[in-house]
Amino acid sequence: MQANYRESMLDKVHTLIKEVNGFTTTSKEEIEAFRIKYLGSKGLLKKLFSEFKNIDAEMRKDFGQALNTLKKSAENKVSELRDNLENTKEYEAVYGDLTRPAEPIELGARHPISIVRNQIVEVFSRIGFTVSEGPEIEDDWHNFTALNLPEYHPARDMQDTFFVEKSQEVEKDMLLRTHTSSVQIRYMENNKPPIRTISPGRVFRNEDISARSHCIFHQVEGLYIDTDVSFADLKQTLIYFTKEMFGKSKIRLRPSYFPFTEPSAEVDIYWGLKTETDYRITKGTGWLEIMGCGMVDPNVLKNTNIDPQKYSGFAFGMGIERIAMLLYQIPDIRMLFENDIRFLEQFKTVI
Ligand code: PHE
Repeated sequence: MQANYRESMLDKVHTLIKEVNGFTTTSKEEIEAFRIKYLGSKGLLKKLFSEFKNIDAEMRKDFGQALNTLKKSAENKVSELRDNLENTKEYEAVYGDLTRPAEPIELGARHPISIVRNQIVEVFSRIGFTVSEGPEIEDDWHNFTALNLPEYHPARDMQDTFFVEKSQEVEKDMLLRTHTSSVQIRYMENNKPPIRTISPGRVFRNEDISARSHCIFHQVEGLYIDTDVSFADLKQTLIYFTKEMFGKSKIRLRPSYFPFTEPSAEVDIYWGLKTETDYRITKGTGWLEIMGCGMVDPNVLKNTNIDPQKYSGFAFGMGIERIAMLLYQIPDIRMLFENDIRFLEQFKTVI
């Protein structure tokens, strides 16, 4: 064998080793082509090994070592590239293609009732009111009797009640609460004054459904009980609330009647007469009724074991729908219950 043939064979193997080590791909087909080219039954290594017999004895060792290195390198390369491929596949299965532009994600919107409820809760929590909740299916005591509305009291008719059929297990008359004042009774039964709490929740009244009233609606009622609580405290709290909630602080209190408060009042807020809508919603007066309130009747305190000689308090209650309709100029209360996506989407920007 000529020396230069041997040299060139060895060089060729070294070049191939370099080629093998430098090779890279992420394609399954290319890995397979690479494997066949080097390690296949008609591959380069087979051919090179068959040259072995033509190599001079003293060169065989080097040539053999070089061939083994080439073989090992090719085998390692194939398994390394296959591993990579597996990892990439797994990675993509889990994460997808992270370089892909993100798809726009549709944001949901809060329901206007939730928005307004949260606002009211936030305004009162700033002056120390906590949130209390109670059951929607109530007994007569918490919804009526404890609130100074004994059986056959004519004022029970003010709130057309849905009664739940008397069952064998519950001896009591059960009903769907007509106001969240029932939660205040529960709160007074379980807590000692000073009490500062608001009770948001869903209430039910057997009323005809129209653009302005519904048989299901939401209320927030508030209760404040401590020593020396006066009507002036009530008024100041209401002014604070209307200012924070509506940006308006001109209110008036009209004498009214609720069995559980004495004296009682209806709260009107001065909305103004700037626009046509102002005229329409205030019926040309500029004033809007937004809630009922009063000083807690001593009988109610007694009913919940709070000493009326020692403590006094005020309470108020408002409908969330009415306030939401005012704030967002919603013309029909039914829109708040239909869940029409075209209506709800308009509240996307409000948090
Ligand atoms: N509970 C009354 C209602 O549902 C509202 C109210 C609450 C009035 C507290 C006065 C005091 O209409």
